Amino acid sequence: MSDKLHETNRPTKRWPSAEGGALTEAELNEAAALLAAGETVAFPTETVYGLGADARSTEAVEQVFRAKGRPSDNPLIVHIAGMEQLRGLVRPLGEAERRLAERFWPGPLTLVLRAVPGAVSPRVTAGLDTVAVRMPDHEVALRLIRAAGCPVAAPSANRSGRPSPTAAQHVQEDLGGRIAGIVDGGPTGVGLESTVVECAGPDSVRILRPGGVTPEQLRAAGFKVLLEADGAGGHADPAQAFEEGMGSSPGGASGEGALARDAAAKLAEAPPTAPASAAAAPAAAPRSPGMKYAHYAPRGEMRLIAGDRERVRAAVQAAADEARGRGRRVGILAYEETAAAYRADIVLACGSLAAPETAAQSLYAVLREFDERGAEVIWAEGCPTDGIGLALMNRLSKAAGGRVEHID
Ligand code: TXA
Ligand code: MG
Repeated sequence: MSDKLHETNRPTKRWPSAEGGALTEAELNEAAALLAAGETVAFPTETVYGLGADARSTEAVEQVFRAKGRPSDNPLIVHIAGMEQLRGLVRPLGEAERRLAERFWPGPLTLVLRAVPGAVSPRVTAGLDTVAVRMPDHEVALRLIRAAGCPVAAPSANRSGRPSPTAAQHVQEDLGGRIAGIVDGGPTGVGLESTVVECAGPDSVRILRPGGVTPEQLRAAGFKVLLEADGAGGHADPAQAFEEGMGSSPGGASGEGALARDAAAKLAEAPPTAPASAAAAPAAAPRSPGMKYAHYAPRGEMRLIAGDRERVRAAVQAAADEARGRGRRVGILAYEETAAAYRADIVLACGSLAAPETAAQSLYAVLREFDERGAEVIWAEGCPTDGIGLALMNRLSKAAGGRVEHID
């Protein structure tokens, strides 16, 4: 497995094997057997496709990092198919943790829990004494995990830094030839990753990464909701709060160059090209280590403009015209309500502002389409940050590498 050539030229199986056919029990079992044998298999969840490996096996988990080109200090989420799998994996749940699991599992909520030492590979937790766990709300994922008979560590099944995959084809593009197999379960439902939270008291949760479960849903379940950056500067725009202290600079700490042997030392380190706001903030280590990396980015250079709709429209169009004047191939990411008003080489509607869940579903596919159509620079319109909009704006600003302008 150490042979580089072998890693990038291995046959990647695809199930169902029949074009357009249904996934058979035999195929599911074949995929599960590969997982159980320490291989890497991509599978659908309700959020995005994950690249799975037996969470207990360091060798298996290392293949995930290699296939993705993922920095080793970024821990993985462990996927389970039933509450009984928590036994031996994490310390007994606190009252709030139990309530969250009962209310939101299976579903797009990841709980950061106290790990039982040695239960999963240290490569999964990146040396932390906690482990992130979730139970996906997807029948294929649940059946696969059950059949594999192990907790399944699974980051999103994209090359590190690229938009997450919301269809099996995206996984094929990024990881074909690098992993053992892909289970195709059709397009994913939510389209953005799970919300990562930790309990911050008997009735409060801290959101470490916004995602499929919204702050409003957590509040409706009786929880007080804290954002990662609360107490570390605060921010007028909640979506921006997650950028504090995370050094998501253009081309930032993503990829092989950022590999760190000592996770703790790396987490304590100031990001090399931190934005000014981060430099001014107290030097708190990000609680969700993955949030400090450049992420979800298309190949073209993206910029995000948010705020007053009319002024945003004018600013986006002016910037696009200027770049086209310089001979650049320009993309604009807009919405169904706004796309028709723009002129550029590639104008894509990312769902509807009236139904932000459709924007969440389309975002990653739209970012990939800009790549396919050769966009060199992309201007994206922001959206309101209520509901799933918080996660959407978070991913848009990550995709823009922190190049975000607010016009009010
Ligand atoms: O929806 C999802 O969550 C998808 C699907 C495949 O389940 N998975 C996913 O995994 O997005 P990944 O690896 O791309 O993101 C994991 C996030 C990162 O931000 C990581 O830093 C955080 O979870 N994380 C993992 N373990 C953690 C821990 N012990 N403490 C804090 N954050 C943790
Ligand atoms: Mg990811």
